[in-house]
Amino acid sequence: MQPQTRPVPPGLLFGRTFLRHPRMLGSAVPSSRFLISRILRQVDWGKTRVVVEAGPGVGTLTTAMLDRVGADASLVAFEMNHTFVAHLRNQIPDPRLRVLHRSAAEAEPALTELGIGGADLLVSGIPLSGLSRPARLDLLAGWRRVLRPGGLLVVYQFTRSALPDLKHVFGQVRQEFEPLNVLPARVFSCAT
Ligand SMILES: C[S@@+](CC[C@H](N)C(=O)[O-])C[C@H]1O[C@@H](n2cnc3c(N)ncnc32)[C@H](O)[C@@H]1O
Repeated sequence: MQPQTRPVPPGLLFGRTFLRHPRMLGSAVPSSRFLISRILRQVDWGKTRVVVEAGPGVGTLTTAMLDRVGADASLVAFEMNHTFVAHLRNQIPDPRLRVLHRSAAEAEPALTELGIGGADLLVSGIPLSGLSRPARLDLLAGWRRVLRPGGLLVVYQFTRSALPDLKHVFGQVRQEFEPLNVLPARVFSCAT
């Protein structure tokens, strides 16, 4: 019989993956429960059925969102890192969750391919400061088109560098600050 290998604890997996891909991850540890709660508080969960998550990592926020949406909801997660994709597919066997090994920049064509007309919520933790300004504006404009009228974009970042571009694409941006996270984080909410 093959010896059973125990799954690597999510925090350790995240740290190890950060050492290999620091720019892609932007953080050495998953978001804290304080940051997760602050993100979740931005959303009216009763009205949220289609969720897009950009950069789920080890699924800290993903599982918290699955706990809040209904049985008929769907959550499409875009993750660039193959180690995280495998972890999410193995560790979160929830039929409402689809994990795509694709860039979140491809959210618009990917949702069309899946036959999903639009999202009520798009949540992103991908490091936007690493993108060039044209690439960031393109990404945000695509995300805006993915959202249904009345939909919400929630972005969490360690700096305010994406704020001018969020305002440019979405107009009004609500800002909150969460000190209890490594690193302290900004949460930007943009309604359509
Ligand atoms: C700061 S980590 C956030 C992880 C997790 N959401 C959390 O809060 O703990 C950023 C994540 O975005 C992923 N990522 C970076 N660029 C991406 C892109 N263009 N599309 C999809 N995922 C991306 C990274 O692999 C990483 O998992």
